[in-house]
Amino acid sequence: MENTSTTAWFKLAVLYLVAGVALGLHMAKSGDHGMYPVHAHINLLGWVSMALFGLIYRQFPALAGNKLAKAHFWLYNLALPVNMATLFMYLGGNVAIEPVLGVASMVLGLAIAIFAINVVKNAK
Ligand code: HEM
Ligand code: HEM
Repeated sequence: MENTSTTAWFKLAVLYLVAGVALGLHMAKSGDHGMYPVHAHINLLGWVSMALFGLIYRQFPALAGNKLAKAHFWLYNLALPVNMATLFMYLGGNVAIEPVLGVASMVLGLAIAIFAINVVKNAK
């Protein structure tokens, strides 16, 4: 379980890297930087944070595969795509989507809190 779950974090992380860099290149090429918060958070919540989660679960096998790790994985990976898609829509002018954006952000916050509890309780 440890290996599968950390491998999944890395594979998903590189998808966000590719998407984040593609959006960065698109912004640079078009000269329209309006979507930079989406770009920044795809790269930082997607690539950077997810690669770090994978590395931390590898470094501390006691964290990986427990209930907290599973809750972290599923809540984070269900909420992040919704969060990025709705932020994109919101910045594109669809302000009615804001409640969904808000809920997805809170679920992400919850997933991060669960990860933090797991690290504090179980890292050794
Ligand atoms: C070829 C790759 C990339 C390109 C072409 C690119 C392009 C851009 C552009 C055009 C902006 C908007 C700048 C502005 O209007 O202020 C931006 C902002 C940003 N990018 Fe990238 N980016 C790339 C990769 C990355 C990566 C890998 C990360 C993170 C790991 C990243 C993090 C950020 C952040 C945090 C901002 C917001 C900075 C701010 O608050 O002013 N970018 N990027
Ligand atoms: C649920 C988690 C998060 C939420 C709801 C959130 C929300 C926000 C908001 C509302 C802004 C201001 C955007 C604007 O200027 O219009 C912002 C900016 C920023 N955040 Fe986050 N953030 C989160 C997580 C993170 C994480 C984990 C990182 C870094 C690893 C990060 C890095 C940044 C950076 C560099 C900026 C400035 C660039 C930008 O405006 O997009 N954020 N964030």
